[in-house]
Amino acid sequence: MARIGIVTEQPGENRVAASPVTVGKIIALGYDVVVQSGAGSASSFPDSAYVDAGATIVDDVVAWGSDVVLKIAAPTDAEIALLRPGTTLVALLSPALRPDLLTALAERGVTALAMDAVPRISRAQSMDVLSSMANIAGYRAVVEAAHEFGRFFTGQVTAAGKVPPAKVLIAGAGVAGLAAIGAASSLGAIVRATDPRPEVADQVKSIGGTYLEVVVPDEQKEVSADGYAKATSAAYDAAAAQLYSDQAADVDIIVTTALIPGRAAPLLITADDVARMKPGSVIVDMAAAQGGNVAGSVAGERVVTDNGVVILGYTDLAGRLPQQASQLYGTNLLNLLTLLTPGKDGQPVLDHDDVVQRAVTVTQDGAVTWPPPPVQVSAAPPRAAAEPAPAKVAKTMSRGARAALTVAGIVVLFLVCAFAPAPLPQHFLVLTLSVVVGFYVIGKVAHALHTPLMSVTNAISGIIVVGAMTQVIVPDPLVQTLAAVAVLLASINIFGGFAVTRRMLAMFQKGDQK
Ligand code: NAI
Repeated sequence: MARIGIVTEQPGENRVAASPVTVGKIIALGYDVVVQSGAGSASSFPDSAYVDAGATIVDDVVAWGSDVVLKIAAPTDAEIALLRPGTTLVALLSPALRPDLLTALAERGVTALAMDAVPRISRAQSMDVLSSMANIAGYRAVVEAAHEFGRFFTGQVTAAGKVPPAKVLIAGAGVAGLAAIGAASSLGAIVRATDPRPEVADQVKSIGGTYLEVVVPDEQKEVSADGYAKATSAAYDAAAAQLYSDQAADVDIIVTTALIPGRAAPLLITADDVARMKPGSVIVDMAAAQGGNVAGSVAGERVVTDNGVVILGYTDLAGRLPQQASQLYGTNLLNLLTLLTPGKDGQPVLDHDDVVQRAVTVTQDGAVTWPPPPVQVSAAPPRAAAEPAPAKVAKTMSRGARAALTVAGIVVLFLVCAFAPAPLPQHFLVLTLSVVVGFYVIGKVAHALHTPLMSVTNAISGIIVVGAMTQVIVPDPLVQTLAAVAVLLASINIFGGFAVTRRMLAMFQKGDQK
């Protein structure tokens, strides 16, 4: 049975790599778990809670001497010296940025698994610490901004006067950005967001934000093939700069989260933009640790500009909600350990045929194994170069073909009215008008409301019930049977439609409104 050690982080890191709940589940995988005394205290997990979960409290030498060491931040040189050769270390190791660290771990004979190298594929989502931490950090960025901002986020009409809602701009709608949009809009602010990946527009809208598109020619648009953005084109950057300049003069809060993997963060908000903001405005630069999206932001610091704008460059946003962050990080680690322990026998096995396990393994058997072979994932299939854009096809239709179709329709209508026998022209006219009215009415209804709309139009078939009921009294068993069947089927249609609508609307209600 292998021993897993949960070690204490350096001062300033409030999170811990396992909560009492996850420790209990690691023990259920067959492991022996030891926790360094005080490791969870900054996350409000006392030693006694780990003991209750089945762990043993130990000193640093025993914890670091375990077969598997679980940690949040990359180890210092002194901490690497505490690791035994052959130990497996699991932590955030920034493998792309820290070749020196990987070399030191390989020389020490440590097998290092980098939690920040989990590929962004569906199967690995449950281990994706970057997402779980960015989600917390995005929320916390808005809380920090609200704390600095001297006004309400929500608009109010009070006896003492009207309070306008705060306007918030989120730059970059990835995991952190979407969490920030959700938090700011739930506080009542007007939220706008922009991102070079157009596929995020619907996500922004669905959580209460307005997507601001940076308008560039179609061929220069970014369509992500792997869930991450690529470096933006010069045309995009110029159009985006204009957008940021306009927005800076208008909004009260800006949260920037723009990140391109493997590169320094792009500079989005220039010194001129900051100068255009109103005094008392707040900027949270979430990318400060990667070089920053905002001119003048300093990693880990709170800066106040000459015109009274507060720029927060905090790099420990997730760690500012340490209990929740530790719980989620711990769950991500537990999911990785579950993958590494197929026999649930407390013996970790690394399988390099598995893309996730291969991707996280950055050193093994004294060698650096980073970078792994690329993992192909797809967020939105890139449009084939030869394939014409759908919007353009629709446009061509609307010019030539639409006019021809209209003329043909009028001719057919004229012929039918002129030559068809007596009642047919009237019926045909009613049908044609219904099609036209239906097309325009239904076309104006939002897609999300099509189900309720259908149930209402279903109810029109109630006229069948009325007709059938008048026939039930006819003294002919065949007519009576047909009338009864008609009443039954029309009723199912009407009530079924309303039942489906009710279920659908219930999905949009919060628990206490149900
Ligand atoms: P992500 O990769 O999911 O999202 C980054 C987003 O930025 C993507 O949607 C991308 O399309 C967008 N983007 C790229 N270039 C852009 C540009 N020029 N303009 C506008 N948007 C652009 O990353 P995630 O997980 O959401 O993290 C976002 C940032 O937050 C990262 O810099 C990350 O390091 C940081 N972060 C900071 C923490 C802190 O404590 N300060 C904690 C966790 C994450």
